Amino acid sequence: RYEITQREASAEILPGVKTPLWTYEGTFPGPTIESRRGRPITVTHRNELPVPTVVHLHGGHTPAASDGYPTDLVLPEGWHDAAMPTGHGSEHGSHGMHDPRAVVSKLTRDYTFPLDQRATLLWYHDHRMDFTAPAIWRGLAGLHIVRDDAEDNLGLPEGLRELPLMIADRAFAADGSLDYPALDPTLRERPGVHESYLAGVLGDVILVNGAPWPVHEVDTARYRLRILNASNARHYELEAVTDDGRRLDLVQIGADQGLLATPVTHRLLPIASAERYDVIVDFSGVPVGSRVRLINRLGSGRTRDVMAFRIARHATDDSRIPRTLSTDLPTWRRSDAVQVRDFSFRAGQMRGDHGWLIGGLPFDPARTDVTARLGDVEVWRLVADVHHPVHLHLVGFRVLSRSGRPPLPHDAGLKDTVSLRPGEAVEIITRFDGYRGRYLFHCHNAEHEDMAMMANLEII
Ligand code: C2O
Ligand code: CU
Ligand code: CU
Repeated sequence: RYEITQREASAEILPGVKTPLWTYEGTFPGPTIESRRGRPITVTHRNELPVPTVVHLHGGHTPAASDGYPTDLVLPEGWHDAAMPTGHGSEHGSHGMHDPRAVVSKLTRDYTFPLDQRATLLWYHDHRMDFTAPAIWRGLAGLHIVRDDAEDNLGLPEGLRELPLMIADRAFAADGSLDYPALDPTLRERPGVHESYLAGVLGDVILVNGAPWPVHEVDTARYRLRILNASNARHYELEAVTDDGRRLDLVQIGADQGLLATPVTHRLLPIASAERYDVIVDFSGVPVGSRVRLINRLGSGRTRDVMAFRIARHATDDSRIPRTLSTDLPTWRRSDAVQVRDFSFRAGQMRGDHGWLIGGLPFDPARTDVTARLGDVEVWRLVADVHHPVHLHLVGFRVLSRSGRPPLPHDAGLKDTVSLRPGEAVEIITRFDGYRGRYLFHCHNAEHEDMAMMANLEII
């Protein structure tokens, strides 16, 4: 049982200035929850923020009532009309729509997570309809690690050598406050602001676990980096580079939904919003006193740097990377699928304004877009105009193909978010198991999501 209070707080993120935040328990990121596979937990969230909130456990195999449907609001004290927009969000979404199925709570809500799922890194974040992007930007995000015995016994780096890394970019005003184009209505008149909002909001400061460009001291040993891209819209291509320009191997051992079957070695690791990569880096060949920089090849200027590791001391290392990491990955085949569905993810017009649409339609909580039968295997073909990281609630899936070609090396394993690149068609396969009810799939560029790139998935 956990209790989390959502409240305003401030932190010194940049030296010498205070940044007002919306937080889980007063910190950004919120508290990291660690749980065991198959051991249910209940998290009671109390909303002391000035706006309604919704909590979603991203990657959780969760009954619909606790999945954080975007209209299942937790209202703060004194808030009466669940549909009232606050004016803080995008004003491009579908706010004000009435959803007869919404289950609205006052002040607190219990979220119950059975956690009957593979061990992995999940994250929890706000999911309120039309206002998710500014809420995450202001700080409503935290990590949740699910562990199990099988993984504990593999001999992977652990303890201080296991580092969860929540990477997120932010922009700051001179007074230290977070700068978000739609937070201040006057900014939206400035030329270019609307365009930058439409594509997804980028910051010029890279935070890792809430700190700008941190330097972490490490031993000459293997480390397990559990990387989450919690940025609203920024893509990364990560490289670990030594002072003398050598690129270290990034040995991927896990994806969004847990361990791979066997390790996959990368030099360059692409990571889109909401994706997680579980990666081993070996610092044993790096001279003590020197550094390894984690850089983003897609960044420029100061957004090229993400963080650095300073090799502080010699140490022994009895960790290992087993050749077989797991044997329980689903092996769905195309011929198992009872349905093949097509979805386009494209820009379009919505009520006279720009929107982002799935299958030509903006999100509407009252419309069921997909009805799937519990237990059915389906293949979905996802087509993109520009870059869209597509996320399904409830289930993990496997990537079958990219534009008719085999999946890329980093598509390995079980995922819940897949990066559709511009112009690409990606096929995924999944089985809708576990729970019936109303779920979602959507683009996880948080601004696209708020501009209605989301759809309903009803499991019957
Ligand atoms: Cu991380 Cu529906 O989202
Ligand atoms: Cu999710
Ligand atoms: Cu998108």
